[in-house]
Amino acid sequence: MPLDSRKDLADIVMVVTGAGRGIGKEISKISSLVGAKVAMLDINETNLAKSVAEITALGGDVKGFLVDLTSESQVNATIDKISNEYGRIDCLVNNAMAIGAEDLLSTSLEDWEFQIKVTLTGAFLCIKRVLPGMIALGAGNIINIGTVNAKEMLGSDAYSAAKAGLHALTRSVAVRYGPSGVRCNTVVPGSIATDVWLQRAERNPQVFEDLKPWYPLGRVGKPSDIAEAVVFLASSRSEWMSGSELVVDGGLLAGPAPMHKVIEASE
Ligand SMILES: NC(=O)c1ccc[n+]([C@@H]2O[C@H](COP(=O)([O-])OP(=O)(O)OC[C@H]3O[C@@H](n4cnc5c(N)ncnc54)[C@H](O)[C@@H]3O)[C@@H](O)[C@H]2O)c1
Repeated sequence: MPLDSRKDLADIVMVVTGAGRGIGKEISKISSLVGAKVAMLDINETNLAKSVAEITALGGDVKGFLVDLTSESQVNATIDKISNEYGRIDCLVNNAMAIGAEDLLSTSLEDWEFQIKVTLTGAFLCIKRVLPGMIALGAGNIINIGTVNAKEMLGSDAYSAAKAGLHALTRSVAVRYGPSGVRCNTVVPGSIATDVWLQRAERNPQVFEDLKPWYPLGRVGKPSDIAEAVVFLASSRSEWMSGSELVVDGGLLAGPAPMHKVIEASE
């Protein structure tokens, strides 16, 4: 069905962090085209302005908010501004992240702390600021963008640890604030072709081809694969889902795909 004839998120006020590019931009685009009013948050002014203009030109109701999620005062001021402007916040999508060195021994303490601060503490700060309004309304929806790296060892050690913390935070929010009408879920993406892969693709231009054998569905993901899962979790169609991990990974976590072929070939 064409996006502009869908009304999945009619009149929902949604905040998306890390919305300047990649998956956050696509979440903002699809959510706004199916009816949400989307506040797009990012630290990168140029990307944010470009993405807001692109989505607005498509007919989406979006607005950009420049913020550094590692600053509690900036997060609080931004969330308060959005609440005042839109009257309420129905849905928060914690999508921003920082990623650094691949392995633990190459990770400085500063880099470790920075990755935790953007990915986990930034989400904590946003959740802490939106929750009182949601509790007062008796309704709210928080969606954390996790990763398959939080479920099994796939590299990027500090990033994976920060994301595992975010998965745990989902469960805390779901159980503690469920009785107040707030639900909270994690989306668990596999590899998604975004700019974050540029450096790896420079080292190995074949990287997505090389990853294919691990994906039973035969490809890596697109930002829209994740955005559609977010739209589902943000909509009333998922109203009895909370504390869950919605895995969107082309089958990656179902099992190490090449392994059964080795076993069966040796029988
Ligand atoms: N791309 C993948 O393969 C993949 C796989 C699994 C999970 N994910 C998750 O999906 C989400 C989006 O990934 P992506 O590939 O689009 O990443 P990305 O790097 O393209 O986007 C992240 C955005 O966060 C913003 N950001 C970073 N630090 C910030 C800060 N301090 N304050 C405000 N904004 C800040 C960046 O400017 C950027 O626009 C992330 O949570 C990521 O962990 C991605």
